[in-house]
Amino acid sequence: MASQITKAVIPAAGLGTRFLPATKAMPKEMLPVVDKPAIQYVVEEAVAAGLRDVLMITGRNKGALENHFDRVGELEAMLERKGDSARLEKVNFSSDLAEVHYLRQGAPLGLGHAVLRAHMHVGEEPFAVLLGDDLIDERDALLSRMLEVQQERNASVIALLEVDPSNAHLYGIATVQPTDHEDIVQVTGLVEKPAEGTQPSNLAIIGRYVLRPEIFGVLERTKPGQGGEIQLTDALQELASDVSIAGGVYGLVFRGRRYDTGDRLDYIKAIVQLAVDRKDLGPELRPWLKEFSRGLD
Ligand code: G1P
Repeated sequence: MASQITKAVIPAAGLGTRFLPATKAMPKEMLPVVDKPAIQYVVEEAVAAGLRDVLMITGRNKGALENHFDRVGELEAMLERKGDSARLEKVNFSSDLAEVHYLRQGAPLGLGHAVLRAHMHVGEEPFAVLLGDDLIDERDALLSRMLEVQQERNASVIALLEVDPSNAHLYGIATVQPTDHEDIVQVTGLVEKPAEGTQPSNLAIIGRYVLRPEIFGVLERTKPGQGGEIQLTDALQELASDVSIAGGVYGLVFRGRRYDTGDRLDYIKAIVQLAVDRKDLGPELRPWLKEFSRGLD
């Protein structure tokens, strides 16, 4: 059953304060993960799942994002003159990847507010939300599976990952019930970043959502929550608590490879993990890493 969903929303308005000064004049989404900006992995993932209509909700410094997904005549001409077709292909790839639209968030009122800004573009149809801090390995299907579950259950679907209980306070956490499918759960409750030791489970929301448009009406009346921000998790909690609003919320429990680029340490780990698997870098990086780690206590 092919999904009818065509639109992806990518919130990209965060200030990236954890990466200052790198993010002083550049959005954190442009930080390279190996040799591609983090945001390109996310757009590639959306496109691979059939979502070519991408709306980015941006903040300050959006220029670099727009330029990245646009043509750069000068650079193309230079590479052509040099006959460097491999690099030319890389440069053109991101410009031709998707139909990217941009909308400024305006006030930084939280993830729920950023998603609400997408209402006019999305209209009254289901859509996906992808958060740029979470990268999903392209070898492990997640979004395409979520689109299928959305279609089959006519509900909203979130991606869940089992996390160490000591990290649960960093995520939206779900209370769930099993369904007839091992990796699909019915979400009965959600709480955004529960205080340490109070989490109802160790199933954390990772940044992939396939939402029914009723979420917009709920977001409009969602009051600021954790951190004083309008939380997408709070609006989803309302959808989860009453299946008559929009079919409820299901969780797809992801057991594949996910890389967190949201803080500096995880970002470094993500780069190493991705680079060791790369054909062009892995063969040299692996033995070097082994040698290097031998020198550590
Ligand atoms: C956001 C969501 C949170 C989710 C997380 C996944 O939080 O609010 O529910 O678990 O993304 O990365 P953030 O990390 O942006 O603070």
